[in-house]
Amino acid sequence: METIRDKSFTDIYSHILGEIERGSVDRKHGFHLFNFSTYDEDSGYPDSRIVVLRKLVKNSFTLRFHTDFRSRKVKHLEKNFKSFLLFYNQKSKLQIRIKCDSYLSSDEKTKKDTWDKSQEISRRCYYVPKAPSSDIEKPIFNDDLNVEDENLGYKVFSIVDANVVQLDVLELNYSGHVRVRMDVKDGNLVSSKWIMP
Ligand SMILES: Cc1cc2nc3c(=O)[nH]c(=O)nc-3n(C[C@H](O)[C@H](O)[C@H](O)COP(=O)(O)O)c2cc1C
Repeated sequence: METIRDKSFTDIYSHILGEIERGSVDRKHGFHLFNFSTYDEDSGYPDSRIVVLRKLVKNSFTLRFHTDFRSRKVKHLEKNFKSFLLFYNQKSKLQIRIKCDSYLSSDEKTKKDTWDKSQEISRRCYYVPKAPSSDIEKPIFNDDLNVEDENLGYKVFSIVDANVVQLDVLELNYSGHVRVRMDVKDGNLVSSKWIMP
């Protein structure tokens, strides 16, 4: 099995970027879904959920996902942009923990282009009549959604850009686990060190 043990730090960094990029384009890749955590100031607890990795912008090391503007994660980010991403690829036995500064994208053109290209099934998520996490009487059916409602759909569709600040990479290995911590600034690797797995 290929291991990061014998690679240079810059090669490990490129490898990680490559794997994350693959995750953004390949639905079957272990990094296509990830765990996104925010801080919920109201409860004082962290909050996590699974989201789909939509894009990696390599030069700024920004990971992108789509969400509903009304969701709790967006409310959390408005109060505190500090967030945490967690990936695990069972095939390559690679865990990546990522400290990120995450923001709602204000790039209307990208948002419009992305929406126009998105499939009907993905768009449906943005037509639920109440904000995600709202109390409801009973579970909804897609057939009940009003996909003509002009206050929903594109109006609540939003893009979150997570800018990487620090990586913690752990590769499980029969001969000994390998772990490295990397600090990143504006898409550049600024320092790396081996740490105890
Ligand atoms: C496989 C899977 C993929 C998901 N992808 C997304 C996603 O890309 N964006 C999103 O906002 N929620 C996604 N969700 C739903 C979230 O996990 C979460 O339930 C929802 O966004 C509400 O989260 P919040 O109330 O904490 O903001 C996904 C859930 C699953 C199980």
